[in-house]
Amino acid sequence: MAAREKIKILILDDEKHFTEELLEFFVNAGYEAYESNSVKEARKLLDKQRIDLLILDVNLPEINGLEFLIEVKEHYPEIEVIVVSGQGDMDTVILAMRNGAFDYLRKPFRHIDIQMSLERSHRFVQLQQRLKHVEEKNSLISRSLENKINRQFIGTSQKIQEVLEAAMTAANYSEASVLITGESGTGKENIARIIHYMSNRKEHLFCPVNSSAITETLLDSEFFGHKKGSFTGASFDKMGFFEVSDGGTLFLDEIADMPHNLQSKILRALEEKVITRVGDTKPIETNFRIISATNHDIKHLVDERIFRLDLFHRLNTLHIHIPPLRERTEDIAPLLEYFVNLYAVKFNKQKFRIDEEVISILSYYEFPGNVRELKNMTERAMILCKGNTLGIEDFPVKIDMKLIPGRQLMPIDLKAKEADLIREVLRNSNYNQKASAELLGISRDALIRKMRKYDISISKTEV
Ligand SMILES: Nc1ncnc2c1ncn2[C@@H]1O[C@H](COP(=O)(O)OP(=O)(O)OP(=O)(O)O)[C@@H](O)[C@H]1O
Ligand SMILES: [Mg+2]
Repeated sequence: MAAREKIKILILDDEKHFTEELLEFFVNAGYEAYESNSVKEARKLLDKQRIDLLILDVNLPEINGLEFLIEVKEHYPEIEVIVVSGQGDMDTVILAMRNGAFDYLRKPFRHIDIQMSLERSHRFVQLQQRLKHVEEKNSLISRSLENKINRQFIGTSQKIQEVLEAAMTAANYSEASVLITGESGTGKENIARIIHYMSNRKEHLFCPVNSSAITETLLDSEFFGHKKGSFTGASFDKMGFFEVSDGGTLFLDEIADMPHNLQSKILRALEEKVITRVGDTKPIETNFRIISATNHDIKHLVDERIFRLDLFHRLNTLHIHIPPLRERTEDIAPLLEYFVNLYAVKFNKQKFRIDEEVISILSYYEFPGNVRELKNMTERAMILCKGNTLGIEDFPVKIDMKLIPGRQLMPIDLKAKEADLIREVLRNSNYNQKASAELLGISRDALIRKMRKYDISISKTEV
């Protein structure tokens, strides 16, 4: 089997914590990444290493980042460059774009912003396709990916099983728009990815977009792409989200925040499946599928005329609602176990045991942040826990224990205690049911019923 070829990324920034954090993100995301905190180091690396993508901070202390960008573009024209700038540095950004930078990010930015930027890079798309092709040849990708995804969506409750079934249906109808609703952290994006990777679109891109995170003035160019020279700073042709998602899935996250004028443009693109880049007249066909998500009451926004009714109908061909975690408490135990194993591997810890009490107490917790909150909570607990058993004291909800009425917790413990007590009394009375019933203060029939319930039998040898 050929070793997997990876996209190589170099990060150049004088702030060590910044390069370290990005490096970790890229490595976790499956790229091969390098960091350098000075131009000298970066030059050395570029000299001995093939680099596909450079993340370049333009505010470097030693040399103007723009000069370095020009130098890189001259010596290594095939390297895509994403520049990073501080707030209020738009002039530099425009100059950088003119000098061949592919995209820019303003600090602070989120990982998802950089991921999106990467996925739109032309070279990235090309490389991605080539890598997929190589992996396909080894017939690795589909199966490993499918297994991975299957394993990643955890839950045994009837409600979550229904969500998964709906996701499978959506995967089979890969032209239909899907709207996913649910509170924050319930797993909407997860389900969107599952639908994509289970559908016949899986060989193409899954393109996540949060329209509220894009500056108003750049919306058109981001969604539709632009032609070189169409506005200041447009120094090359660029594909927009619709085009990048050709054959694949465009995931529109938090659609409730989408500006009104973009709503009508999206509706048109969705109906016609043809777009034109900003500054161009040539129509481009693109076969994308839209999966959208929101944690708002979208119907209410339609009533308020904040969201267009016609677009809502278009997006809502299939609707999947993910119930909050507090309405499917059976999922807490398997999710907790999954996250514990996940972090045990990540933090290089041995196997952890979870105290039963943790699960019974967590099932009374509201989980306003749903699965994400449970995940973060588990991560924190795993970091702070000294031994190898996670107890309720390792979870911050212990403060809320006072709020849990003692009575509510009783039946859980009581059942186990009751069975133990019956066994003990039976043993002590030499398995005489009448005497045991008397000792327990219940009738003999009641005792027999309870013995059946708790599966307590008296074999001949025991009598
Ligand atoms: N059933 C599940 N199994 C495993 N992990 C899950 C599950 N549901 C959610 N997660 C994890 O919880 C976190 C939050 O999920 P996700 O980002 O999909 O939520 P979301 O509904 O899109 O939230 P938001 O509305 O805040 O964007 C992610 O790390 C995700 O992997
Ligand atoms: Mg989300």
